Amino acid sequence: ETGYITIDSGYKNTGATKSAITFLDGELGILRYRGYSIEELAEKASFLEVAYLLIYGELPTAEQYATFENSIKMHTIVNEDMRKIFEGFPVNAHPMGVLSAMVCAMSAFYTGDKSGSDELNIIRLMAKMPSMATWSYKKSQGHPVNYPNNSLDYCSNFLNMMFALPVAPYQVDPVVSAALNKLLILHADHEQNCSTSTVRLVGSSHASLYASISAGINALSGPLHGGANQEVIEMLEAIKADGGDTAKYIAMAKDKNSGFRLMGFGHRVYKNFDPRARIIKKAADDVLAALGINDPVLKIASELEAAALSDEYFVARKLYPNVDFYSGIIYRALGIPTDMFTVMFAIGRLPGWIAQWKEMKANKEPIGRPRQVYVGATPREYVSMDQR
Ligand code: SDX
Repeated sequence: ETGYITIDSGYKNTGATKSAITFLDGELGILRYRGYSIEELAEKASFLEVAYLLIYGELPTAEQYATFENSIKMHTIVNEDMRKIFEGFPVNAHPMGVLSAMVCAMSAFYTGDKSGSDELNIIRLMAKMPSMATWSYKKSQGHPVNYPNNSLDYCSNFLNMMFALPVAPYQVDPVVSAALNKLLILHADHEQNCSTSTVRLVGSSHASLYASISAGINALSGPLHGGANQEVIEMLEAIKADGGDTAKYIAMAKDKNSGFRLMGFGHRVYKNFDPRARIIKKAADDVLAALGINDPVLKIASELEAAALSDEYFVARKLYPNVDFYSGIIYRALGIPTDMFTVMFAIGRLPGWIAQWKEMKANKEPIGRPRQVYVGATPREYVSMDQR
């Protein structure tokens, strides 16, 4: 029975689907959304433009963009009863657990759209996830949450909800808003990564978009995936506290028994460099310079990168900085706390997840149900408890 089944753990050599959304070439370090290079999009587009491109397949005209942006603005307010669910979380609840629970709760709040069109649910998610994401931060500060401000663009509105206080209006710094815009674009999609594959698999049972996205948030929270951006900063802080001894940590990363991994290094697909890491590293230099911030952790990160890239262990295994290695340094410069870094990844990845879910539905893909090779017990009779 197992003659025809081959095991491909981690799906390293399995193509799960055909997709027209994102192209990446791991050898050449190429990443394109719907044919457009991330280098161009990160420089010239807004995050909402890229979200539209991923979800609907084309860059929007001015009119399409205005309609998209306005529809989102009409749904940024979160149902006040959702706040009651949120209030139940402890002050130190991890924002990723809160976010996945709140997004899943949306499937309980918005059940009426039997029209079959997910268009409104797509708009609601794009509109409400940033609002709910900021609640955790405000609660951790003991501050009141902020309502969205529809006179602001998507990134500025997020920053305002994060940092505005009733006692002092928050002035959005264009440098900060532009840096956030670039980071969200660079996280927007990445073909069949762990969390996107999760969204597609859950969606293949025709579970709701909210349930599928909530599953994606949970997969992303893992330290081997999106959770790595928080781990990187914690690792860099530990190295700084340990006198900046990068050689010691390089040695530990090479010692399998140390249980230590160089977080933010390595990638399943990119084997020469992660094009996003290159852009983010340059953006980190630019943003810190523009904000006049001298973050010693950036120097440690650069030293760690240089040391690893000249070490046979990493070169032989083609381990390079990935998207998570430098992103935390920018988030920190923007005032975003470490435990919110993976939430930022989720906000960026949301349009990609939505686009991939939409494509899977449009292609009428069958429910995902892989097989296995059974290696368990051979047939045996039941033994009553008094005989065991
Ligand atoms: C993301 O898939 C995506 O596209 C993901 C993502 C996206 O946009 O969605 O790009 C986002 O998740 C980026 C990756 C973030 N994760 C980390 O930075 C965690 C640290 N990196 C690793 O755990 C690892 O590199 C993975 C998970 C990223 C990739 O794992 P693989 O492809 O399964 O590779 P592996 O674990 O089998 O490692 C191959 C070898 C092993 O050594 P050997 O057994 O061959 O001797 O490389 C070693 C590993 O021990 N290795 C590392 C290492 N990563 C791999 N050794 C030290 N430090 C590391 N970071």
